[in-house]
Amino acid sequence: MTNVKIRNLVKKYGDVYALNKIDLDIKDGELFILLGPSGCGKSTTLFSIAGLIKPEEGEIWFGDKLVTSADKKYCKRPQERNIAMVFQDYAIYPHMTVFKNIAFPLQVQNKSKEEIKKKVIETAKSLEIEELLERKPKQLSGGQRQRVALARAIVREPNVFLMDEPLSNLDAKLRVFARAELKRLHKKLGITTIYVTHDQIEAMSMGNTIAILNEGKLEQVDTPNKIYDFPKNIFVARFIGSPPMNMLEGDLKKENGKMYLNLGFMDYLLPNNLLKLNDKNLKELILGIRPEDVLISTEQLNNSVKATIDIIEPMGREFEIHLVLDGKLIICVTRKIENLKIGNELYLTFNDKKIHLFDKETKENIYYLFKQ
Ligand SMILES: Nc1ncnc2c1ncn2[C@@H]1O[C@H](COP(=O)(O)OP(=O)(O)OP(=O)(O)O)[C@@H](O)[C@H]1O
Ligand SMILES: [Mg+2]
Repeated sequence: MTNVKIRNLVKKYGDVYALNKIDLDIKDGELFILLGPSGCGKSTTLFSIAGLIKPEEGEIWFGDKLVTSADKKYCKRPQERNIAMVFQDYAIYPHMTVFKNIAFPLQVQNKSKEEIKKKVIETAKSLEIEELLERKPKQLSGGQRQRVALARAIVREPNVFLMDEPLSNLDAKLRVFARAELKRLHKKLGITTIYVTHDQIEAMSMGNTIAILNEGKLEQVDTPNKIYDFPKNIFVARFIGSPPMNMLEGDLKKENGKMYLNLGFMDYLLPNNLLKLNDKNLKELILGIRPEDVLISTEQLNNSVKATIDIIEPMGREFEIHLVLDGKLIICVTRKIENLKIGNELYLTFNDKKIHLFDKETKENIYYLFKQ
């Protein structure tokens, strides 16, 4: 077990920054998630930690041991790092049985036959593949093959686990199951695990800490709840949550000692503690509100505005309602839609404890500072 520290990591491909000054602190025994859209640098980060990529700048530490240093032109070889990897396109040996596949890393370590057998069976049991030990990979489903790859990584008892979308080949139902299984396994083994995904739900449900990457840069590193409730900027706010946060542009306005945001269709009264905003020389803001914090009513309320129902989508447990006002679309998620129909008019208001305010220019969440 070990903690991993990354400092100022830079990796370029031609003119493209795959990683642009990344700093990360991954605690000993943590399940740490790297999340972001395709091409944001997740695999590059993982390959750098594994020692498969040499960065142009920066350092990587495993505990108090320096394993990568661009300055010192030092990059410890992957096989000397005691890491285990499960990658997007995991490769299990097609000519070997499942047993031999899982046993392989232990044979390389010259473990005794009895020890190998014990370990393989124990691991296969924990992943529920012990019935498959004599089969060859081509006789397995995609999900089973993925679990063999996991088992082969686990038997090594590495210092650090690196997983790059290890569940991407599983169907939706098996994925939920495998996710829970991985979490349980992590708890049991307590091995520092760095887990890459582009699936926000997977990230939110699995991780202790999530790092969100975008175009090679870190946008936010926080717990799942903090990322959801206090997104640092518009990118994070829109990336996490489905349907995404509504974003409404407006101008800041002070009147009779109160602050409003002129949204065009209404002057939205801002909470009192935001009066300080005036000192910040801000003008154009973006109000963010999650669909579940858009409240609807058939009666007019304080700070409410009339909107028309455009679409009602049943989502199972809830309904997604698309509302239109002043040519703008606002999505609301609610559990009750009694007597509501497309074309109806109703009043909507925002739960003002849940609003977010972003500076239009910097895209940063300015309200974040007030709430913390
Ligand atoms: N060998 C390479 N040569 C040139 N560019 C590369 C190379 N590998 C990665 N890149 C570029 O670096 C950036 C980051 O790639 P990376 O593979 O880390 O993305 P990712 O976040 O893992 O994406 P995905 O979710 O699609 O796997 C991308 O713009 C990619 O095109
Ligand atoms: Mg990748």
